[in-house]
Amino acid sequence: LANGVARTPPMGWNSWNHFFCNIDERTVKATADALVSTGLAALGYKYVNIDDCWAERDRDWKGNLRAKSSTFPSGIKALADYVHARGLKLGIYSDSGYTTCSKTMPGSLGHEDQDARTFAEWGVDYLKYDNCYHDGSKPQQRYSRMSSALLKAGRPILYSICEWGEEDPARWAGRFGNAWRTTGDIKDNWDSITLIADSNNVWGRFAGPGRWNDPDMLEVGNGGMSLEEYQSHFSIWAVMKAPLLIGCDIRAVRRETLHILGNKELIEINQDPLGVQARKIRSRSGLEVWAGPLSKKRLVVVLWNRSGSSAPISVGWREIGLSPFSKVIVRDVWTHSFVSKGTRFRLTAHVAPHACKVYVFTPL
Ligand code: DGJ
Repeated sequence: LANGVARTPPMGWNSWNHFFCNIDERTVKATADALVSTGLAALGYKYVNIDDCWAERDRDWKGNLRAKSSTFPSGIKALADYVHARGLKLGIYSDSGYTTCSKTMPGSLGHEDQDARTFAEWGVDYLKYDNCYHDGSKPQQRYSRMSSALLKAGRPILYSICEWGEEDPARWAGRFGNAWRTTGDIKDNWDSITLIADSNNVWGRFAGPGRWNDPDMLEVGNGGMSLEEYQSHFSIWAVMKAPLLIGCDIRAVRRETLHILGNKELIEINQDPLGVQARKIRSRSGLEVWAGPLSKKRLVVVLWNRSGSSAPISVGWREIGLSPFSKVIVRDVWTHSFVSKGTRFRLTAHVAPHACKVYVFTPL
């Protein structure tokens, strides 16, 4: 959607993957502070997004949504002010049905204009819009209604479409929103991220500036995977031009988690102005090559070992669209070093199980 936002994939944090319904304003404020103090904000993680369960069960007498007084006593406007004062942006959540998925708060069905106005008045910058408990009408109808409502609300609001099950959103959601989910909910395990990577890969050609495939929020740092697996998760999400929404508790973030989420070179790949999603170009016995173009005629190439044992993975220039004789500079963005100046024909690396290598190719 050409509403001026998300020209590169959105970056930030979202409450759901770690806190689920257990979220309150104290946690959100402390998270905003932590984004700044860890340096993550300076790396681009700007959106602080509240997911489900932030509102009272019923609307007020005028039909307005209101923040839950037990957990968000100061209200959302105050929270937006707090977050804005730190140079960050605030995201909120609603649903295109009668209630949200948690059933603890109303959805926006039939209240689209009113709720979009409320969000804009509060200073909200991002809306994630879910697809539970609706009236059975097509998602295209319900999602377009909120899209128009947001465009009229008088504030640029990034619109994230959380629908995947009913209609393939990649085929229509770019007209209405800035990102759309391509799969069900992510889980903090290896099977989930490999399955999601493959499903999201299919829709690569629909992504571009202002409109991104969303393979769901990051699980890095939540404890269910090894560091190699989290590195692979982050690498593949980054090159797929996925929204990079941190899903762990960054008030207590560990150094090795920061090392992954804070990889500046991978963030630059994710935020590259060309905005083309890298795709899987080869897979044999769990040894995979993913690649895609970057600006300035560069390429990103990932060698991903999804098998259970260490293995060499090799990529030839022709496979990634280079002439066999073209000379390139190859940089490893995890070791932050040049593999070679002027490599030709082919690159081979030994990759540990469930790990990956990520390279930027710059033509000489
Ligand atoms: C389903 C979504 O896919 C999740 O990301 C989360 O927003 C929950 N709903 C909240 O109920």
